[in-house]
Amino acid sequence: MGEDQLSAEAGSPIESRSIGGCGSDMANRATPFLESHWYVAAWAGEIGTTPLARTILDRRIVLYRDAAGVVAALADRCPHRSYPLSRGEVKGDRIVCGYHGIEFGRDGRCALVPSTGNAPGALRVRAYPVVEQGPFVWIWMGDPAAPRHDRLVDQPWFTEPGWAHVTGYFPMRAHYLGLHENLMDLSHFPFLHGVAVGKPEHATARPKVTVEGNVVRSVVEHRDVTVMPAYGRRAGFAGPVDRVSESVVPTPAIHLGKVVMREASGRGEAHVRYIVHCPTPETEHSTHYFWAMARSHFIDDEDIDAEMRALGEKAFREDKAALEAIEELVVAERDPAFRERLIASDEAGVQLLRALARMEREDRADAVAVGA
Ligand code: FES
Ligand SMILES: [Fe+2]
Repeated sequence: MGEDQLSAEAGSPIESRSIGGCGSDMANRATPFLESHWYVAAWAGEIGTTPLARTILDRRIVLYRDAAGVVAALADRCPHRSYPLSRGEVKGDRIVCGYHGIEFGRDGRCALVPSTGNAPGALRVRAYPVVEQGPFVWIWMGDPAAPRHDRLVDQPWFTEPGWAHVTGYFPMRAHYLGLHENLMDLSHFPFLHGVAVGKPEHATARPKVTVEGNVVRSVVEHRDVTVMPAYGRRAGFAGPVDRVSESVVPTPAIHLGKVVMREASGRGEAHVRYIVHCPTPETEHSTHYFWAMARSHFIDDEDIDAEMRALGEKAFREDKAALEAIEELVVAERDPAFRERLIASDEAGVQLLRALARMEREDRADAVAVGA
């Protein structure tokens, strides 16, 4: 077995990997961001007629709604003197630069230069395709002329009636791949998060990992899981439940978790919860961590909303803190010889990082083919 490989055998010999080097078959911090995808730019409720500045994949972007309520995303850099457009203001369907008052439409074209009264075609800012989907505003970071709508993931549990959801956001000072890997690894639950999230024996459960194309899926069953108190009372669960957790990463921007709970007796109906994590790379060392949970039952229960929000705030903040500690150390102690050791329970994460590396290579090859 060569470098950067992990045996599928349980308890198998430990392999290692470089954390930032080129030539690995796993994505790492040397891998360019995957641009040809939709990322969460913001929660829909964050964007109004006051310009919102946000860095996404190392690009400065300004988000706003025009007078009709339609979301716009433009490069946050005036083509006249590089003044950030986010320091200007929105007037009707235009954003007005705060330096010399040049006006731009949602398509990024200049609408007016006040000092001359004209609108030269050369004065243009990049406009990013955006899609509003329930609580999410997605931004396409690839070629603006060719957004791949087939790469948007339909999530009816956030847009259709019959579901309730809560959302949260953390700015995270860590590379986004660490979050993907963390989310594929359920064995850390009882150690990093404590008994509210997982029992020690859950760490030894071996997920079933499958790979279809570049989509990695991990499924694990846990028995006798403690339910959140308000939820358990409302559901009438007499005690712990059995839980099937499925994780799938359809794009680099989404980690889609589905949890199905049933009474341990096997009786009663299935209770479904979607736990969606959307890591949007900000820079090489920082990530916008958007998360949301949707549930199929008790959708009008505010106590359960509060309980879900509190669980997310606690558990995901613990993940964020761990990843920030790792980032701080990795950046401070740049040691090219250091290799991380892999253990068998890393399999899902390793498969995911390989899939992301393949996606990056394929997108790069597509871009070359289109440009040829
Ligand atoms: S810098 Fe924007 S109008 Fe001059
Ligand atoms: Fe975690």
